[in-house]
Amino acid sequence: MPGHIPENILDDILSRVDIVEIIAGSLPLKRAGRNFKACCPFHHEKTASFMVSPDRQIYHCFGCGESGNAFKFLMRYERMDFPEAVETLAQKAGVILPKDESYEHQSGGQSTHLYKINELAANFYAHHLNSSEGLKAKDYLLKRGIKQETISALKLGLAPDKWDGLISYLRSKSISLNLLEKAGLVINKDGGGYYDRFRNRVIFPIFDLKERILGFGARVLDNNLPKYVNSPETPVYIKGKNLYGFNLAKDSIRDSDCVAIVEGYLDFLVPYQEGVKNIVASLGTALTIEQARLLKRYAHNVVMIYDADTAGEMATLRSLDIFIEEEMNVRIVSLPKGLDPDLFVRKHGVEAFKEMIVKAQNIFDYKLGVLKSRYNIKEIDDLAKVSSLMLETIAKFKNAVLKSEYLKKLAQGLNIKEEALLEEIKKVKTVKVSLNQHSAGIRKVSNVNPTEKLLMSLMLEENGLINRIKEALGPNDFQDERISRVVSIMFDLVGEGKKVEPQILMNHLGDDISELVCESVFLPQAQSDAHREKVVTDCIQRMKNESMKLERARLHEQIKIAQSSGDKERLEMLTQEFHSLIKTKAGKS
Ligand code: UTP
Ligand code: MN
Repeated sequence: MPGHIPENILDDILSRVDIVEIIAGSLPLKRAGRNFKACCPFHHEKTASFMVSPDRQIYHCFGCGESGNAFKFLMRYERMDFPEAVETLAQKAGVILPKDESYEHQSGGQSTHLYKINELAANFYAHHLNSSEGLKAKDYLLKRGIKQETISALKLGLAPDKWDGLISYLRSKSISLNLLEKAGLVINKDGGGYYDRFRNRVIFPIFDLKERILGFGARVLDNNLPKYVNSPETPVYIKGKNLYGFNLAKDSIRDSDCVAIVEGYLDFLVPYQEGVKNIVASLGTALTIEQARLLKRYAHNVVMIYDADTAGEMATLRSLDIFIEEEMNVRIVSLPKGLDPDLFVRKHGVEAFKEMIVKAQNIFDYKLGVLKSRYNIKEIDDLAKVSSLMLETIAKFKNAVLKSEYLKKLAQGLNIKEEALLEEIKKVKTVKVSLNQHSAGIRKVSNVNPTEKLLMSLMLEENGLINRIKEALGPNDFQDERISRVVSIMFDLVGEGKKVEPQILMNHLGDDISELVCESVFLPQAQSDAHREKVVTDCIQRMKNESMKLERARLHEQIKIAQSSGDKERLEMLTQEFHSLIKTKAGKS
């Protein structure tokens, strides 16, 4: 968590907003005893395991482990970064944030300038398209079936047919050429001086999820080459991290749990305009793992829409394995020859297009179909080739059930023995992509020592217990590193005379730890004070015994080492320590 916003301000904001109200703005929350529940927006599920606690002001999903306080919800659900989430809630709570320089710098600096410049440029291009000089280009777009409302919604524009149209406009706004070059809008001439990158082209601004303009694509109005000129990578435009149209499509993607992916600007624009709202464009490049993960936060079903040639290429199919690795369900539409989504929708109508999406084949069936049409599986060599290409894909499934079902299906489809495939799949090398926090998902939380977890949740439930436990145990008595960290923060907070609330603890903790804290809030707690008292006493005793046992084992180990290395002095010291340890135990119990 960033340190530049003072902790007490974060606490203040959290105490003034209600997480239930915030989440209810996005999800249909239902009462469930003291808490609220809903189907989790962070993974696909049919029964609600996403819980929100009004008392504790946190949320937790028992299905995928996603959890946190109000800041975290905005970050995950609305895709805000931390400063934005803080700003949003501060505004809601009426808390004025201090103008900290490092904070300004963090969220501002060069990137802010570049976004601003892109915005100015986009306005300039849009204005030009709507001026009398833009008639020809407007006509071109309208002829291609793009409506005025779409032109406005996507802020399409036109770059003037001049070497310095944008330059003179932005220079008049005192923007330095250096920054214009950083934004990728101008090109530095060899002999010195600059000229506009985009000239006499229709402009497609590329937005990110926060509606900031990252860069541009620019199409010729005729058949000249290159057809498109694009912004280069800049500090704000990192290709492969974004998808064209995502800003407009995200809600529909989330609601339908499905995203259609096309290749080009027009292939996005036309279906979108005609009512296919859950669509994005990859802009003609292979999808990256980052894009797959970005999409996965919104939907688990992907439909790739290609023209006939692209769809049939092995490289295309191989590139889809990233979705399988991300445990997403990927299907393929291969459009009739000569048609891309734009042409298809204009020729056959949007209903026919939707029908294609519904009928998309899953990657297994599609790939097998392509391979069977390309190879003659009656030939043994071809059969081996087809099965090994299919196994490449099957090996990517993480889910063992899916993997084994597909193996069965492949054995049937190729009429070969399943055992042979099982033998072969072992040879397929699976290149592991490094996991990010998100796909690391549900893990260790369940392996935590139950006694430690129970004590931690009791302390969270009843702050009065913290001092009592602090007298009996130190943070190091907790063997689980994460719990030990939570406990040590709780001890510190109490030492400073502060209240210990899960939603505030969260601001001190990383994702994996806060998940643990959130989960414990929703677990059944003590039934009465007396019961709680007994549980605490038992837990403390058990933890002491456990610590003792570990300490003994540790000493024992060291004594053995000292013995074998003949270190008499150390051996003597360790043995003494060992005896006194046993004595304390005897004395106390
Ligand atoms: P296409 O050649 O399929 O073009 O390239 P398109 O999108 O269908 O455009 P229209 O219909 O001819 O107007 C698909 C995508 O590949 C990228 C663009 O993002 C384009 O939308 N591309 C293509 C380029 O970046 N540069 C090019 O020269 C061509
Ligand atoms: Mn096209």
